Amino acid sequence: MKEVMNMLSPKKHRVQLLVLFLIELYVMISCKSKERDIYLVLMEGEPVAFHGAVEQDKVGKRMVYDSEASIAHAKYLVDSHDQFLQRTLDEGSYNKLYSFQNVVNGFAVHTTTSQVEKFKKSAEVKLVEKDQGAKLMTSYTPEFLGLPAVWCQEGGIKNGGEGIVIGFVDTGINPVHPSFVYDPLNPFTSNISHFSGTCEGGPLFPETSCNGKIVSARFFDAGARASATLNASVDIQSPFDAAGHGSHVASTAAGNFGIPVVVDGFFYGRASGMAPRARIAVYKAVYPTVGTLADVLAAIDQVSSFFLFFRPDEPPEGTLTFLGMFEMFMLYAHKAGIFVVQAAGNQGPGPYSVVSYSPWVVGVGAGTTDRTYPGTLVLGNGQKVGGIGLSGPSFGNGLLQYKLVLANDVIKANGTFPTTPPYVEECQYPEALDPTVVKGSVVICMFSAGFYNNSSTLENIIETAKVLGFMGFALVANPRYGDFIAQPIPFSVPGILIPRISDSKIISRYYEQQTQRDHKGHAIRYSGRAAIGEGRIATYMERAPVVSRFSSRGPDYMDQRKTPVDVLKPDILAPGNQIWAAWSPMSVQNPILSGKIFALISGTSMAAPHIAGIAALIKEKNPAWTPSMIASAMSTTAIKHDNRGEPIMAEGFAPYTLHPAAPFGFGAGLVDPIRGLDPGLVFATGFEGYLSFLCSLPNVDPSVVKITTGVSCDPSFSNPSDLNQPSVTITALSGKRTVNRVVRNVASKPETYLSAVLTPNGVSISIDPPWFTIAPGETKNLEIRLTVTRVLQDFSFGEIVLTGSMNHIVRIPVSVLPVAVQVPKEKYLYNVTC
Ligand SMILES: *[C@@H]1O[C@H](CO)[C@@H](O)[C@H](O)[C@H]1NC(C)=O
Ligand SMILES: *[C@@H]1O[C@H](CO)[C@@H](O)[C@H](O)[C@H]1NC(C)=O
Ligand SMILES: *[C@@H]1O[C@H](CO)[C@@H](O)[C@H](O)[C@H]1NC(C)=O
Ligand SMILES: *[C@@H]1O[C@H](CO)[C@@H](O)[C@H](O)[C@H]1NC(C)=O
Ligand SMILES: *[C@@H]1O[C@H](CO)[C@@H](O)[C@H](O)[C@H]1NC(C)=O
Repeated sequence: MKEVMNMLSPKKHRVQLLVLFLIELYVMISCKSKERDIYLVLMEGEPVAFHGAVEQDKVGKRMVYDSEASIAHAKYLVDSHDQFLQRTLDEGSYNKLYSFQNVVNGFAVHTTTSQVEKFKKSAEVKLVEKDQGAKLMTSYTPEFLGLPAVWCQEGGIKNGGEGIVIGFVDTGINPVHPSFVYDPLNPFTSNISHFSGTCEGGPLFPETSCNGKIVSARFFDAGARASATLNASVDIQSPFDAAGHGSHVASTAAGNFGIPVVVDGFFYGRASGMAPRARIAVYKAVYPTVGTLADVLAAIDQVSSFFLFFRPDEPPEGTLTFLGMFEMFMLYAHKAGIFVVQAAGNQGPGPYSVVSYSPWVVGVGAGTTDRTYPGTLVLGNGQKVGGIGLSGPSFGNGLLQYKLVLANDVIKANGTFPTTPPYVEECQYPEALDPTVVKGSVVICMFSAGFYNNSSTLENIIETAKVLGFMGFALVANPRYGDFIAQPIPFSVPGILIPRISDSKIISRYYEQQTQRDHKGHAIRYSGRAAIGEGRIATYMERAPVVSRFSSRGPDYMDQRKTPVDVLKPDILAPGNQIWAAWSPMSVQNPILSGKIFALISGTSMAAPHIAGIAALIKEKNPAWTPSMIASAMSTTAIKHDNRGEPIMAEGFAPYTLHPAAPFGFGAGLVDPIRGLDPGLVFATGFEGYLSFLCSLPNVDPSVVKITTGVSCDPSFSNPSDLNQPSVTITALSGKRTVNRVVRNVASKPETYLSAVLTPNGVSISIDPPWFTIAPGETKNLEIRLTVTRVLQDFSFGEIVLTGSMNHIVRIPVSVLPVAVQVPKEKYLYNVTC
């Protein structure tokens, strides 16, 4: 009942609050309670944010919820939910978990399917959806993450974000982490007295955790408690982060500047958030045992201006991607002035793998950086084999050499270990290996079935190495399984991953030459020698960014059949490969990182907070900008070339292969935090634009849009491609189409822009007007005319560039699939009139 009481209490206003969501949705396989499930219900009637009586603050047009009228309306809505439930459902058959009243009008209820049927008859109900669950998933097991490299550790701007409060809806926060301490010697200069947040203390989270850097902390668990039996030792009922994920993303977006990253006693450099002076509000809504959409939505309903990052794994069932409950929450959050960021997904590199769909959210893809951590295995013959492993050198700083032994050669003849040879070969069981041979040796563990099907772990190798006293280990690629993808993780013993077959063959050739075998093939003498070199020193020489293999790709689509739609996804690329950031030593889901306060991990989840932090910098400089203006500013100034001046590349299906990337991999390009502050022109849109977009979608029943959004379709767009986005995407172009755009000058001076087109194959493009002068604050309509010149089987890509006389350059990616050439109109008329 505690959370319900909180919902009833007057809301303090949450101005300048930017919340980041780092939750990933997936269908929960089992719920503890078989009878009851959680249902999310949207009701007719205005929520507080859009109720006439709500106040908006003057600067950023954010909602102020604590006026008397707002409080009265909130109470009215909560009462109406209770009365509706009493009236409609059988007594004792349900338990209301939350009322949603700020961003949407609705509630979460724990009840049975037969009760839910009763909702469907009610005219007051707009939408009912079963809670699909929301669970944290760190993209890949760490050992199978992307290739080495990383980003700008130094963050955005040293004082960036001063005066902004960023909220995070995630797994909570590690409040004692140096990235989140308040430094009394460097007090905040900005006044956030307009922000007042609650600090809910609890286990591992004393109220003093709200220290000035962390300005508010809450947790939402009514949904979690309704759907599972929580384990108090990991599902900590306080804002404390038991997982590490919430701390990682919070520090990437808003962690303190210049924090030394020290892991296992080694100094890796300094870390900083993108907006290091931003303050943090924590909304914990996902637990190690369970996560529910109800808790996540209850958290969203509490914040008025935030960044949202969320990754549903699958499109919603039985409805359009754009019309699911979560997308509706995000649409209304956007309408309330909330900037929504979402990870594109980690299901790349195939097409149609994005799980961020809606144009009202910014979907972020992940790219690499120029950083790598090269490791070496030095063989007795002087050959050096490259690999990856964030570990120190073997004793003697890599100069002393040790006996080289293949684990497979030292398996005990009849020990009592599990008889699964691949796991033994992978050094998974210390009891399987002959301790007298491996002690003090460099042991070769072979990548095999257990790693292939993800049942073996690096942790077990490290444990084996410790128990048996290895001098070091090398996990080498196995020709039977091909190259594997390695991620540097700090090892507490000297170790190296050799992920490429070509390298592992060098090792096995040397080893076989040096190892004497009996007539049965059993090794009897080991003359091979090796040492492990220092692996913790970064180099910054890689070609970057490269779109990460795991990063989900477009085209965007509108249903489970994956019907493509005229929206570019992902929107933008940010660093998401091997990102160092804060961690929680409890590290419940990643035991290999337990005890650590920093972690180097990858995923589009790691890319999204970069965009959130940069958006905070833009918001700080331009407080009146709406979410779509901020998104446009980042997109039109994004970079399409890598650090070699070449077009950005993307990782392919096969490990270590690259091919040219396209907007369906990188969106508008790599975010540029500095140029995004001063874009010159923006493409702005809002709620009405998104409705027109929904209504113009092919095969969409306007009554469904009306029921879900509560607004009637007004057919103002001839095509969904008319949505005023900083991109042009046409999934099936027949003949000709004119796409309308409106630009607004957000610079302080008049400027003359000249348009240029990098034409996609198979299409010609003209822009009308081809050049224009635009005063500050003024808008201009542009007509982009596309004509098919040649039919293609696949999308082709181009770009429209508006170059301003005051040095602003505005770039818009164009993605078109030309499916039919129509006879040009003039010719047609000529033929007919004759
Ligand atoms: C902060 O602003 C509030 C009103 O907006 C004002 O009452 C208060 O004195 C200010 N505090 C400081 C330290 O400037
Ligand atoms: C609760 O979590 C702890 C730590 O992971 C674990 O050891 C314990 O078995 C769990 N208890 C239950 C009932 O699952
Ligand atoms: C252990 O293995 C050896 C050869 O592999 C075999 O001769 C011996 O009988 C085995 N001992 C037991 C106790 O199984
Ligand atoms: C993984 O592969 C091994 C060897 O093929 C097999 O014995 C084991 O059952 C597999 N484990 C899983 C979880 O699939
Ligand atoms: C192992 O995990 C990776 C990443 O999660 C996945 O892509 C792969 O399919 C898994 N392999 C098997 C055999 O399950």
